[in-house]
Amino acid sequence: MSKVVIFDHPLITHKVSIMRDKNTVSKDFRQLLQEISLLMGYEVTRDLPLTDVEIETPICKTTQKMLAGRSIGVVPILRAGLGMVDGILTLVPTAKVGHIGCYRDHKTAQPVEYYCKLPADAEEREIIVVDPMLATGGSAIMAINFIKAKGVKNIKFMCLIAAPEGVKALQEAHPDVDIYIAAMDERLNENKYIVPGLGDAGDRIFGTK
Ligand code: PRP
Ligand code: URA
Repeated sequence: MSKVVIFDHPLITHKVSIMRDKNTVSKDFRQLLQEISLLMGYEVTRDLPLTDVEIETPICKTTQKMLAGRSIGVVPILRAGLGMVDGILTLVPTAKVGHIGCYRDHKTAQPVEYYCKLPADAEEREIIVVDPMLATGGSAIMAINFIKAKGVKNIKFMCLIAAPEGVKALQEAHPDVDIYIAAMDERLNENKYIVPGLGDAGDRIFGTK
């Protein structure tokens, strides 16, 4: 079964609480999401493989370690996942970015896929799928199905807020995908929104409501 990492760092907890506040405006919401993504990215990238390289310092020749080969691809689930990309790119500027378009039908809460474009060498990279909200898990499961269908084997999922229902569904569907969560919430409501959550992440990032 996959690993589930729930962050308990006070900086992350503090920033998530500000994001939950309905009076937090889109500009601040976006900034906080980017900051949290960077902080989470530090941990998500902890096990990236290193390789020996020969370099010459001003003092002598030496063997040191650097990231091995092609390292990371970031794949946001559109729209809201876009808000988590820049934080990871700040840490790993050479990461490539793919996109998966997927929205929840408002009546059925079922995910509908509308776009998929991955880096050409995606199967050689560790792919970090990002989306602020893991509610029923339907969107994440569908996105990861598409990514696996392109031959990618090494996948992690990173979100801001998760419901226990979504974590369970994602673990059952993709037991090989580790899940990184800034805050684990109580449950889903009758509209499949996370409680207490932060509302509709896409609308809050892009000011569309
Ligand atoms: C939100 C969120 C996730 C999905 C989570 O996107 O960003 O992608 O819902 O819900 P699930 O776990 O039940 O699938 P939404 O469908 O609102 O699309 P948007 O990002 O375009 O607003
Ligand atoms: N999507 C969101 O944006 N928020 C939720 O609470 C659930 C799904």
